[in-house]
Amino acid sequence: MSKTTINTLHQCKQNKQKFAVVTAYDATFSHLASSAGIEVLLVGDSLGMVLQGEDSTVPVTIEHMCYHTQAVKQGNQGALIMADLPFMAYSTPEQALDNAALLMQSGAQMVKLEGGAWLVETVAMLSERGIPVCSHLGLTPQYVHKFGGYKVQGRDDATAKQMIADAKAMEAAGADVLLLECVPSDLAKELTQSVSIPVIGIGAGSDTDGQVLVCYDMLGMNPGHIPKFVKNYMVEGRTIQQAFEVYGEEVKSGAFPAPEHEFKA
Ligand code: KIV
Repeated sequence: MSKTTINTLHQCKQNKQKFAVVTAYDATFSHLASSAGIEVLLVGDSLGMVLQGEDSTVPVTIEHMCYHTQAVKQGNQGALIMADLPFMAYSTPEQALDNAALLMQSGAQMVKLEGGAWLVETVAMLSERGIPVCSHLGLTPQYVHKFGGYKVQGRDDATAKQMIADAKAMEAAGADVLLLECVPSDLAKELTQSVSIPVIGIGAGSDTDGQVLVCYDMLGMNPGHIPKFVKNYMVEGRTIQQAFEVYGEEVKSGAFPAPEHEFKA
């Protein structure tokens, strides 16, 4: 099985080949998803909601993230492992560096953090010291209390322009990848074309370079509210590995996401 590196993702963008990302929090799901050919495993702080039963990602700590990153590393069959810096683990560049180092030593090959231009210094510091960074824009779940709920972002002109400016600032600071969550598809398309680094989308339409879903959502294991952008792949008697395979194929062919999974401005 070939190994996904940061260069693979950059080549995908250049060659206009889509790539698939799914969250994983333990060795078993990591093994199944990476064996199915999923290029990137995201150890997301969404584990606070789907594993711990919290109503947001805010209670997740760096210790939780390191523990789950180590588990994902054990099962991984060649995917690139990206891990979230949790809430308040990167409020200064120095704190970000210390916590990103812990994630990398636990098995991450890239760290993800939420926010725009205020993180320029942090992203530059991590990048210069050899830590690949994914910058998460749009609906950034750690800001849920500031947003007043989980709402689509970038629907008006001013916030859309700000998001594109943030994306360019993150790229200039050294970010290797962007992740866009819950933004109108037209904005996601414009933003993806405005940067030369790969853009991963969730609820951001079909024009981003890659797609990500929370594994529990795409395996139909979500007992609560099912977001509009989710598709259940655990159908037609598939095994979990087959569900990951079909998801990967549909992302690569462009069949997922379909118009019903998108948001309009
Ligand atoms: O934590 C997570 O799972 C995420 C995805 C929703 C992109 O950040």
